[in-house]
Amino acid sequence: MVILGIETSCDDTGVAIIKAPDKKQGSFKILSNIVSSQIKVHQKYGGVVPNLAAREHLKNIEPCLKKALKETRISLKDIDLIAVTNGPGLIPCLLVGTNFAKALAYVCNKPIIGINHLEGHIIAALTTINPKSQILSPKSFPAVALLVSGGHTQLVLVKKVGNYKILGETRDDAAGECFDKIAKLLGLGYPGGPAISVMAEKVRNPKSKARNKFKIQLPRPMISHKNYDFSFSGLKTAVLYLTRDNKDKLEDKSFIQELCLEAQQAIIDVLIEKTIRAAREYRAKTVILAGGVAANKKLRSQFKVQSSSLNTNFLVPPKNLCTDNAAMIALAGHLRHRFSRPNTSWKNIKADANLRLKSWK
Ligand code: KG4
Ligand code: ZN
Repeated sequence: MVILGIETSCDDTGVAIIKAPDKKQGSFKILSNIVSSQIKVHQKYGGVVPNLAAREHLKNIEPCLKKALKETRISLKDIDLIAVTNGPGLIPCLLVGTNFAKALAYVCNKPIIGINHLEGHIIAALTTINPKSQILSPKSFPAVALLVSGGHTQLVLVKKVGNYKILGETRDDAAGECFDKIAKLLGLGYPGGPAISVMAEKVRNPKSKARNKFKIQLPRPMISHKNYDFSFSGLKTAVLYLTRDNKDKLEDKSFIQELCLEAQQAIIDVLIEKTIRAAREYRAKTVILAGGVAANKKLRSQFKVQSSSLNTNFLVPPKNLCTDNAAMIALAGHLRHRFSRPNTSWKNIKADANLRLKSWK
């Protein structure tokens, strides 16, 4: 079975083609995974401008499709299923992808299903357990998935693929948004996560003079609250006050580096503490880390250490599948199609900016 995935929920235009086994056995292959990033367009605004993003998607989506078809030497008539992100995300952006995919499905007479972007992120982690579709082995479940992106921060109990329960989520800013806002405050550019982690790493450099010289301490919001909710807006505000009260130090690179290290660690501490607690409570056999923030090197390594103390599997997608892409949407589409036989008419696809993660199995 050949699946075409389409993703336009934020500022990455993604088109992917994957091949999946028709029967139970066998593993899927990502044949092409094209991502056209819009970072350069949004950089000067310090964040994504929805209408500009939609315009870029409109410009890029067809060339991305052509490139994927050319790379795989597959023609549209060989596509068996189209999977498109229909939410959550920025509505002008989602409308470009869903309408493009619907038109393809209509013209080429192909089945199509709408995929929740957040489910796509979780499923991306399953690409790492490849051999012979172990993906669906009951031995891997229940899993606790931490989903950390620019728009969302959620802890999800995955009883099996297709069965999700949101245990907690952010009450204000998402973890990625917190990285982005702090980076903007410090004039480090967009996207903020990679920029902050680069600065933070410099503190670790033995050649650098900056080593906890300033003894910066930031709060770990809600870390000891018994629930699984998060809050990151206070952390951003703490950084704002710190910079306001230390204007004289802002020219000092080592101050900024140390601040980035502490902000990154504050976010990581909260994420790990809550996830490990949920994994214990729900006796998770697998801990999943997913979403754009999961590309963070320190988060990945510290998560791995902590989850090994629990004796659970730890799954995190390769970095290129952490940030937005269409391969994860195609794979989620394949699993949904194989195990739930959903309605596949183009008439059924509706973009929904606030789409909630729902179970289908
Ligand atoms: O999942 P994603 O690509 O898009 C959304 O669905 O939002 O996530 C983007 C977010 C941005 O906030 C970006 O700053 C963050 O992921 N991010 C990172 C890293 N790479 C991307 N955050 C921390 N460290 C990184 N290395
Ligand atoms: Zn995303």
